[in-house]
Amino acid sequence: MFLQSCINRDCRAEYHIDDRLYVCSRCGGLLDVDRSDPITVDPTSLRDLWRGRLSSLEARDRSGVWRFREFLPFDHDASIVSLAEGNTPLYDAPRSADYCRLPQLKLKHQGNNPTGSFKDTGMTVAVTQARKLGARLVVCASTGNTAASLAAYAARANMLCAIVVPGGQVSHAKLAQALDYDAKVVEIEGNFDACMSAIREFSKDPSVYLVNSINPFRIEGQKTVAFELAEQLGWRAPDHLVLPGGNLGNSSAFGKGFRELLKSGLIERQPKITVVQAEGAAPFARYYAEDQADFVNEENPKTLASAIKIGAPVSWRKAWRAVSETHGSVMTVSEQEIADAKAMIGRDGIGCEPASATTVAGIRKLVAEGVIKENENVVGVLTGHLLKDTDYVMKYHSETLIGPDGEHLRGRFVNRPIHGQDLQDLQDLLD
Ligand code: F0G
Repeated sequence: MFLQSCINRDCRAEYHIDDRLYVCSRCGGLLDVDRSDPITVDPTSLRDLWRGRLSSLEARDRSGVWRFREFLPFDHDASIVSLAEGNTPLYDAPRSADYCRLPQLKLKHQGNNPTGSFKDTGMTVAVTQARKLGARLVVCASTGNTAASLAAYAARANMLCAIVVPGGQVSHAKLAQALDYDAKVVEIEGNFDACMSAIREFSKDPSVYLVNSINPFRIEGQKTVAFELAEQLGWRAPDHLVLPGGNLGNSSAFGKGFRELLKSGLIERQPKITVVQAEGAAPFARYYAEDQADFVNEENPKTLASAIKIGAPVSWRKAWRAVSETHGSVMTVSEQEIADAKAMIGRDGIGCEPASATTVAGIRKLVAEGVIKENENVVGVLTGHLLKDTDYVMKYHSETLIGPDGEHLRGRFVNRPIHGQDLQDLQDLLD
C-alpha cells in the first residue's frame, strides 16, 4: 500500500517501504513515501473519525500524529513510539497582528510539543520505523532541537542514540535535554553542515539509522501538522502559511501535507507557503531571488537564530516543490527584525525561540510589501519554545545582544528587570 519513490522526475525509481534508504540508490535524489493505491475513505468519514479520536483514551488516538494514521505508512496495529506529540494550539496573536499591520493573525505553536519543538511530530514516526527495521543505533546531526527530540524518543524506545552537534553553538537548554535523555553527544569543531556530512557517512553502517529530515519518515510525521491545522480552521487552508527555513524539512512536510489534503478532497485549495530565512544563512532565499539558477550553498552561515544556522540544506528540492506549487515565496529577515518580532510574540503571552520569530518578522514585511493583503487569513508557524534559548532573551532585555557581525542589536521592546529596595516603580505603574 505504501512505497518509497524518488522525487526526481527523470528517475522515479521505486523502493519497498522497509528498504533502509535515505536517498535514491539510482540517482541520489530525495525520497518520498507514497501510496501505491488511492485512499478510499471519503472526506466526511475521515474528518469524523479523526475528531472522534480526540475523546479516546488510547495513546495512538491521542497523539496528534497517529490520530491521522490513515495517511501514515504503517499497519494500524503497529507498535508505535509516542510521547503524546502534536495537538498543538493555534493561537490568536493580537499584538503580533497589530505589529504586522493585520487585523488578525494566528500562530500555530509547535513549541508546545513534548520536547519543546516541532521535531517531535516527525521523530515519533522515524523512531517507530527505526525500531521496526531493528536498528541498533539511531543518530542525527543537529543544531539542537532534533537532538533533544531524538534523544527523548530513543529513550522511550530503549534504543541507543548518538547525536552530532556543532561544538559551542547549541543552546544549553537543548544540549541539557539530550544529555538527560541519555544520548551520546558528540561535539565537533565545525558548523551544522559539517556535522551533517559526517553523520551521513557514518550512517552507511546497516545497523545505524539516520533520522534527520532527509529521512522520508520524518517528513511523514511532520506533514500531519498540516492536517491538524486544516482541522483547526474548519477544514480550510489559510491564504498564507509562513514558516522558518533551515534544513528545509519542515517546509517540505507542510507542502506534502497540504498536497495530500487537497488530493483527498479534505481541503479545496492549498495555502501559499512562504519560507523565511535569516539574512546570514539564506541559500534558499538566494535561489528564489536569483530565479532558480544553480543552488549554491552558503559556506559560512551566520545568525543568532542558531536553530537555522544552516548553509547546505539537504531538503531544498522538496521545499522548492512546496513553494513553487503553492505560488509562495522565500525571503530573508535581519537579526534586528528577528529579535524585535520575538519580543512581540512574547507580548502576546506566547513566546518562542529566535528561529521561530522569523515568521512574524517575515509576515510584517510581506504585509508592508503588499504580498499579504489585509483581508487574508495568515498563519505563522512557531517551531520552538521560548525556554529553548533563554540566554538570547536575557541579552535582548538587557540590551547586550550582539549580532553575528559584531553589531549591537538594539531592542525596541526591552523589558529590563528593576533593581531596588522598595516597590516605588510598581507604584508608578499605577499612577
Ligand atoms: N525552527 C527551529 C526551532 C528549528 O530547530 C529548526 C531546525 C527550524 C526552525 C528549521 O526547520 O530545518 O526543517 O527547515 N532545526 C534543526 C535541528 C536543523 O537540528 O534541530 P527545517
